[in-house]
Amino acid sequence: MFEGERPSGTKPEIYRELAQMAGGLFREERDGIANAANLSALLWMGLSDLNWVGFYVLRESGLVLGPFQGKPACVRIDVGRGVCGTAAAQRKTIIVPDVEAFPGHIACDAASRSELVVPLLMGSRLIGVLDLDSPIVGRFDQADAAGIETLAALWVTASDPI
Ligand code: SME
Repeated sequence: MFEGERPSGTKPEIYRELAQMAGGLFREERDGIANAANLSALLWMGLSDLNWVGFYVLRESGLVLGPFQGKPACVRIDVGRGVCGTAAAQRKTIIVPDVEAFPGHIACDAASRSELVVPLLMGSRLIGVLDLDSPIVGRFDQADAAGIETLAALWVTASDPI
C-alpha cells in the first residue's frame, strides 16, 4: 500500500491521506479485527515517531489488548486506570504530552514519553480505545487528536463490533 514515502505535508494533509487509504482498506471488509489490524499497520507505517499503536477492546472485565503494532504490551487494563482506562471511563480523547506527569500512567514500553488515546464509540456504546504512543515528549496535539478521531470513526462505521 505504501509504494513510496509515508504521507507528508501538514498534519491535516497527512490525516486526510491516511483517511483515504483507510477508506480503501475498509471498503470491502466489515470484520472488525481485520480492519483494526490494518488500521494499526497503516498508522504505524504512515505516522512518524511512534513506538506503539493499537486497540484495546472493551470486555466485561475491562479493556483487553487488541490488534496493534509495536512491542508486546499490557494485556488487561481496568476502566479508569492509566491513560487508556481514563479515556474509556470518560469517553473522551486524551492527549498526554508527558507520560511522567500523568498520575497512574501504565508504562508498557519504557520508551513511551507521550500518548494519545481516542475512545471508539458506536453511538453511546463504548467499543474500546485506540492508543498511540511516542518516544518524543509532546508528539501529539489537537491536529493529531482530530485526525485519529476521524480514523477511529471510519473504523467504527466500516466494521462490525469486535
Ligand atoms: N500507557 C497506556 C497503557 C497501554 S500501552 O502504552 C500500550 C496507559 O497508561 O493506559
